[in-house]
Amino acid sequence: MLKGKDIVSIKDFSEKEIFEIFEVAKEMIPYAKGKENDFLRGKILATLFFEPSTRTRFSFETAMQRLGGGVLSFADPKSTSLSKGETLADTIRMMDSYSDVIVIRHSYEGAARLAAKFAEHPVINAGDGAGQHPTQTLLDLFTIHNSFGTFKNLRIGLLGDLKYGRTVHSLAIALSNLGSKLYFISPKILGMPEHIMREIHEKEKPVVTDNINDVIGDLDVLYVTRIQKERFPDITEYMKIAGSYRVDLSLLEKSKKDLIIMHPLPRVDEIAPEVDYTSHAKYFEQAFNGVPVRMAILSMVLGVR
Ligand code: CP
Repeated sequence: MLKGKDIVSIKDFSEKEIFEIFEVAKEMIPYAKGKENDFLRGKILATLFFEPSTRTRFSFETAMQRLGGGVLSFADPKSTSLSKGETLADTIRMMDSYSDVIVIRHSYEGAARLAAKFAEHPVINAGDGAGQHPTQTLLDLFTIHNSFGTFKNLRIGLLGDLKYGRTVHSLAIALSNLGSKLYFISPKILGMPEHIMREIHEKEKPVVTDNINDVIGDLDVLYVTRIQKERFPDITEYMKIAGSYRVDLSLLEKSKKDLIIMHPLPRVDEIAPEVDYTSHAKYFEQAFNGVPVRMAILSMVLGVR
């Protein structure tokens, strides 16, 4: 069903397609842990990361290699002919001719959409500026669904930088369509952008607050994000709200027993390290889920599933 498809926005997926990806991802778990197979033997993935990444890039590369395929990559965009003035469009045309699928991360919102225009093969958005990060959303949804078996009526809080955090943009849209009740918790200057608010269903208006203490007891899922320092046009604005929220053991005393805490990572100081050792912490399992979910996506867009 996803064969040959570009993955640019979470809005590209129907609910049925999301659940089909979950089914394939579940089947991929043993292979993600090393069970041998050659499902994608002879296929090549190009990973073009123009912004830093640990999880997205390496989980895509692990996914491809675990499926028997090969990977083309660069350590630093300055090592490519972009530094000689080649355009992004020409770079994409070239990489498209050397590979079967392209994963791209870029600081410009819309870069993945542009790449998809110039590539014949599928293009997967691994984050475009403050835009979207759809495969992160799919692994976030997979993690939530594995914990609760449903999205309907779950109370899900998105905490942190909702203005610049692309993971929460894609996730808010998806969760709203899947029937969850949303809580947007952020410093006032980092609220959810108006264009995302417009996408959220009118019938289920999110709760909006700047104080996590007021809502922590309501939540089934708390999805924490880092303040995206690198996207602030003025660093003095960042300094005003740096360190303004933190999830620690005293906050969790007020939470439901089965609350799960998620984070796309990397974290800076917004989750205290002692939280890692509680049953609430899901973020490392969430990061691992990137491998089976991306194995599912690669095998589906390449038409072997
Ligand atoms: N979650 C995420 O996008 O992490 P990276 O920036 O390390 O890829």
